[in-house]
Amino acid sequence: MNVHDSDRIRRMIQDAGYAEVQRYEDADLVILNTCYVRENAVDRVKGHLGELNRLRREGRVKKVALTGCIGAAEESAALKQTYDIDLVLGTHNTYELAQFVGLPTMQETYTPELPGTEGGHNAFVTIMTGCNYQCSYCIVPTVRGRMICRPMGSVIGEVENLVAGGTGYVTLLGQTVDAWRHGGKRFCDLLEAVSESAPRVWFTTSHPSNMEDRTLRAMGERDTIVKRLHLPVQSGSDRMLKVMHRGYKAERYRRKIEVFREAAPDGTLSTDIIVGHPGETEEDHEQTLRLVEDCAFDSAYIFKFSPRRGTEAASLPGTVPDAVVQRRFLEVLRQVEQNAFTRNQRKVGGEEEIYIRHGSTEDGKAIGETWSGHAVHVNTDAAPGNYVKANIESAGPHVLYAGEPGARV
Ligand code: 5AD
Ligand code: SF4
Repeated sequence: MNVHDSDRIRRMIQDAGYAEVQRYEDADLVILNTCYVRENAVDRVKGHLGELNRLRREGRVKKVALTGCIGAAEESAALKQTYDIDLVLGTHNTYELAQFVGLPTMQETYTPELPGTEGGHNAFVTIMTGCNYQCSYCIVPTVRGRMICRPMGSVIGEVENLVAGGTGYVTLLGQTVDAWRHGGKRFCDLLEAVSESAPRVWFTTSHPSNMEDRTLRAMGERDTIVKRLHLPVQSGSDRMLKVMHRGYKAERYRRKIEVFREAAPDGTLSTDIIVGHPGETEEDHEQTLRLVEDCAFDSAYIFKFSPRRGTEAASLPGTVPDAVVQRRFLEVLRQVEQNAFTRNQRKVGGEEEIYIRHGSTEDGKAIGETWSGHAVHVNTDAAPGNYVKANIESAGPHVLYAGEPGARV
């Protein structure tokens, strides 16, 4: 989401006549587009702000703007006092940046109306912003606001424009994309329509309570949808899921996964897991490990709980000691990697059609993606956006390795 927002900001200021540079010292304007979801994101922003302030005192950087979720949080006022920042914008008033850089004022009702990048081989399309859930630990609803769904016609229009401009891969974006609904249509209707317009489609991120079996079956049935499901579970313990206000039990999550595995046996499944949420006991942790084993995730983003000021969990009792959090983190990680490695091994020996995401670097290796959603390293000079066919020769826990491609597709 942030990458996409940065992309739109970049386009906006390029329209004002700015060009992109690689070093802070060469910039007239530095825009830090920020994430607030965990404390380490904030720490990194503070590091950059400190560096920018130093360069500014030396006259080597002129203007600094802070945008995104930190800009929308209360903490931005304190940052503005500590650091020299010319402009602070949140998530709903990015258009004010246009005025700041001397563009005519843009009337904007909500962020999705800002166009994304056109003509790239790979493009994001925002279908909804904000989130109507209130997960105990999460700052997103505070900084991104409530859910706003973009009309279907507007989404399809953008997809058709992108495809006409050469885009071969469309990713539908939102905090809870599967909660999308508009004019009597639901997410599965939108996904099916997009899968008819675009040659390759993916979506992220989903919420288990909104994920319909029909969507999972469409993933298996429709050739243009990448068979990769990212479905954050957060915990395997019903007690923790309740404390977190996730709105589902572990058993319901397992059932969704069964439907997905049946619909797309070759597909990949990833998730988000939080370890060390206040009140998490050893028994809760064991249940997470059990769920990880049962679901055999192909990958997982595992996070140590990070208290965010203003969220319910930040003031809950039952802080889990750091050493315990670290051990649980490693245990979940080990379990995920074992499963992922075993599953990836099964791909060895097969031939795959691979979409090139990033062209080859100096070592001659390009990074691609199979239709099953596996990441692949492949020796090819094919440009991003092309397909090649190659045999999978080996596999690690995170990536597959292909031999020389036989044919360009
Ligand atoms: N602490 C740790 N992880 C968090 N996430 C969101 N908020 C927090 C927090 N306070 C994780 C969730 C979410 C992902 C994007 O970030 O797992 O799915
Ligand atoms: Fe945050 Fe996702 Fe929960 Fe919304 S559904 S509050 S974005 S974790």
